[in-house]
This record gives sequence, structure tokens and C-alpha cells, in this order.
Amino acid sequence: MFRLQRALPERYVDASPDQLATWVAQAKESLAPRLLVLGHHYQRDEVMRFADARGDSFGLSRIAADRRDADYVVFCGVHFMAESADVLTAPHQQVILPDLNAGCSMADMADIDAVEEAWESLATVTDVERVVPVTYMNSAASLKAFVGRHGGAVCTSSNARAVLRWALDPDGTGTAQGEKVLFFPDQHLGRNTGYQLGWGAPDMRVWDPRLDLGGLDDADVKEATLLLWKGHCSVHQRFRPAHVAAFRAEHPGGMVVVHPECAHDVVELADEVGSTDFIIRAVDEAPQGAVIGVGTEIHLVKRLDDEHPGKTVMSLDPLVCPCSTMFRIDAAHLCWVLENLVDGVVVNRITVDPDTARWARLALQRMLDIT
Ligand code: 13P
Ligand code: SF4
Repeated sequence: MFRLQRALPERYVDASPDQLATWVAQAKESLAPRLLVLGHHYQRDEVMRFADARGDSFGLSRIAADRRDADYVVFCGVHFMAESADVLTAPHQQVILPDLNAGCSMADMADIDAVEEAWESLATVTDVERVVPVTYMNSAASLKAFVGRHGGAVCTSSNARAVLRWALDPDGTGTAQGEKVLFFPDQHLGRNTGYQLGWGAPDMRVWDPRLDLGGLDDADVKEATLLLWKGHCSVHQRFRPAHVAAFRAEHPGGMVVVHPECAHDVVELADEVGSTDFIIRAVDEAPQGAVIGVGTEIHLVKRLDDEHPGKTVMSLDPLVCPCSTMFRIDAAHLCWVLENLVDGVVVNRITVDPDTARWARLALQRMLDIT
């Protein structure tokens, strides 16, 4: 998705880390209490030290919504998170993303045109009234709105199981919303959750949006219970079973915890699988002396290691890259947006149009009602 971030003025580009830290602190002080700075768990430390609240994508949006006194919500995260915050906050609250190019490559793998096309092609083969669309939180507001309009719900990595249960009722309690789910944009979260709920490979098909009918034939579509959009997170997909094997060989008593955006063959080998908040709790609760191999973004892994001196927390992949889009948010961009606010200028505001916001809110509300 194309977004244009203008170049920063030289004052910020040339400043030393200490100067930036001083300016950010001064700007924050003069904007308080109208300002709320939110930091996603994957943010780098030079930004995270200024966050008034840390959290996962959904948790942060809820914090923004609860802080009605915060006229300015500076979201140090990625674009879909700032959009969700705008959907959930009051009209007088302005949500700001310090770098407009901080997107999410996975979220960008499903756009509204491709999802609408998929829906139309599905309708040629099956009754779409019986298909429940479910979108991962990591998606544009337009996709959340699509789901809202078509009777589906949003899910996060911590409540995907509950949302799929609601949609398909595998336990047979008589509350199913439909017979199939179209799950986007992350095939891995969909697949891992499907297996957790007892479905097998024959119940799932990958929907490739670049191919006619998702690359499937009519029988595939009819047979499948879960249609998994062919999207992935390039950070989490890098973890391989060989990384788990190497960690276990080196640390026989160690524990492996991975995010459900990892591929299923990695998840199968892990001791625990869960969202960023779940991973943080797993490390918190591990005994002193524990060695924990983690499959998620490196800034969170390093921070967990720093904050747990008696435990060893390491990435399962020694060569893992950071999330490059999260990494776009740095102290210079944070300082630039804050100093503009001090001057009364709102730069990089993220807004969702009222109609999209209304339907996206409905899809988010369904998720809340389910979980
Ligand atoms: P959370 O919803 O756990 O914050 O995860 C977001 C994300 O981008 C994971 O890669
Ligand atoms: Fe998107 Fe993956 Fe980065 Fe999360 S880690 S923001 S899913 S690209």
C-alpha cells in the first residue's frame, strides 16, 4: 500500500540521540495531560522509553479509547493499529502515526478490492450467506468494515479460537453463524487455530487471491471449512523447525514459545504458542534460571531478556530481522510529530471515514462480545 511520508527537517535528522531524547521529553511535558503516547511491544527502546502505555495492538487501542482526556494519541506502532485506535476513540481524539510509511506487510497482503473479488467468486460456487468472514486485527479498517457488513468479526492472536468457535460452533452447541470461514490475511494464524480446534488439513484450503477462484476448484471450495487467505508475516514466517531443533540441542531443558503467526510445523514443535501478551506472561512466569527460546519480533525478545535478569530469553533464529515497518518509527519521527503538536500543528493524522468506521466498529464489537 502506497503512503507518503515526507522527509524530516534537518533539525531532527542531524540531532544526536541525547538531543532528541531531551526534546521529546520537553514536548511531552508541555503537551501533558492532553497527550497519550502508545508503544507497541515491537517498538525499539529509543521510542518505547517515552510510551505512556505499552501493549499489543488491540490493548493499546482500548487504552486510547478509555483515555477520553487525551486529545492527541501518538501511536508508535503500524498503520492498521492507528486506524483501529481512530475507530475506537471519540471524535475529538486525534490519532497520529509518527511515520506514515510504517505499514504492516501482512496487512497489505489483503486489500479491499481483492477481498471483494474473492467474495464474488465464492458466490459463484457456494452460498456466501453461509460463509463467515473473519479478519485478523492486522488488516486495514476497510477489511474490518467488510467483515462487519457481512456478519463476521475481527480476531486477534489471543482470541482467534473463541472467534472461530463462535463462527462455526465445532462443539455443536447450536450457535453456528455459518458453515465456512474466509479467514484473512494471515494463513498461519487461521491454520494454527483450525488445528487447535480439531480440524485437519482436508478441512482447510489456501485461497490465493492472485488466481481464479483462489486457485481452487469448485469441489475444494465446497469441501473446505476454513478458507485461508494466502498472506503471512515475513518476520514470523522466517522461523523454521531447524531453529527449534538447534535450540533444543543446545538447551535441552529450555522452553520454546512462539507466536501463532509462525508456520504450523514450527508451532507443533513449540512448548507454548500465543500472542505477544501471552509470550510476555510466559517469560514472567518461567522460573529463575529458565532458558527460553522465543519465536517473535526481536525487539520484544531483547527487551524480555533485559527485563528478566535471572532468565535467558533468546530468539530462536540468531539471524532474525526486526519488523522493518515497526522500525520506521524512531525518536526523530516521534520528536517531529510532538514538536508540531506543541506548535498547534497536527501532522500525520490517521482517520477512518465515518461509514467505514461504523462497520469496522461493529466487527470489533462482535469480537468483544464473543470474548
Ligand atoms: P499483537 O496483536 O499481539 O500486538 O501482534 C501484532 C503483530 O503485528 C504481530 O506480528
Ligand atoms: Fe506486520 Fe509481521 Fe510486522 Fe507484525 S511483525 S507488524 S504482522 S509485518
